[in-house]
Amino acid sequence: MSSRLFARAFPAPSTSSAVIPRASTSSLRSRLSPRNTNAVFGASVRWNSAVAEKARTAKFLPDFSLAGKVCLVTGGARGLGQEFCRAFLQSGCTSLAIVDLKEEEAAAAGEELVKQACVDSDMSPEDYSVIGIGCDVSSELSVQQAFRKVMDTYGRIDSVVASAGIVENYTAFDYPFDRIKRLYDINVHGAFFTAREAARNMIPVGGGSITLVSSMSANIVNIPQPQTPYNASKAAVKHMAASLAVEWAKKGVRVNCLAPGYMLTKLTRTILAHDEDLKRTWESLTPMGRMGEPEDLAGAIVFLASDASRFMTGSEIRVDGGYCVI
Ligand SMILES: NC(=O)c1ccc[n+]([C@@H]2O[C@H](COP(=O)([O-])OP(=O)(O)OC[C@H]3O[C@@H](n4cnc5c(N)ncnc54)[C@H](O)[C@@H]3O)[C@@H](O)[C@H]2O)c1
Repeated sequence: MSSRLFARAFPAPSTSSAVIPRASTSSLRSRLSPRNTNAVFGASVRWNSAVAEKARTAKFLPDFSLAGKVCLVTGGARGLGQEFCRAFLQSGCTSLAIVDLKEEEAAAAGEELVKQACVDSDMSPEDYSVIGIGCDVSSELSVQQAFRKVMDTYGRIDSVVASAGIVENYTAFDYPFDRIKRLYDINVHGAFFTAREAARNMIPVGGGSITLVSSMSANIVNIPQPQTPYNASKAAVKHMAASLAVEWAKKGVRVNCLAPGYMLTKLTRTILAHDEDLKRTWESLTPMGRMGEPEDLAGAIVFLASDASRFMTGSEIRVDGGYCVI
């Protein structure tokens, strides 16, 4: 079922966080003294383009690096899930499982992402091990089999994102029950099966990070389109993340959720295809005046997946252009 795209010798990843050299407290204090401001802020306080350019090639906070981490993304063949995969490869991850309904689509997405990751970098395709796995997250057995493949391939798993999800717009009176049930099976039970299998495999190796993709709809009621079961499913995902976070906090497994606002993906494009005014309405309801691009979530997902968020669990990060605050 799984197809291995690119193989390489996989070095045993380190579970310990990268150590940043720190200045001693006394040397910091002297550098921060008012007489010594230049030592802290540099010779010139003016913005300097040459220095900015030099800093661009400098190293960034190592805790944000995903080097050596094995990552898994459900719903990773397209949309936001694919963007999360891209962000992981750009942040140093070289061992990635892309889990989606169709194995071929997951594998094709992996191949394309690896090609892109090699552009403008010193990496070559052989440096990456990316596998595509076919899986229906609404089936517990299917999720268990997907995780078994990841463990067979890499022997560990460090960061998991549950992004697979669907949305439909029906009024409450019109929504067929079998479709409501299917939506909960994917959005709620799928997220639960993914998180539970992730934790089962993370706990024996000291822990890991799980991110459930909820939505701003967990916090507000979207208008004008009716989507009560979807909104309720995302509120369930938000509270699921908090509840699992408490269950597993002392076992080293962190569980958070990422709540996007309106993003331009296949999921939303399908809705917008039937209603041209809707995009304008959504934009006008968003303080920043636009829909988000999938890459607008890259920083938040890397933060949650990496050691940079090591003291964060049970939290939600909303990335919605300000939608929820008005
Ligand atoms: N796009 C948005 O505006 C937006 C906003 C908030 C939250 N979200 C959430 O983000 C997540 C991703 O949405 P998207 O916009 O990328 O959607 P999308 O439709 O573009 O992609 C969803 C992916 O999930 C996969 N998938 C669907 N059902 C599955 C199943 N049963 N098993 C395995 N994979 C399955 C699909 O094949 C697809 O690759 C969803 O959970 C969605 O609710 C999206």
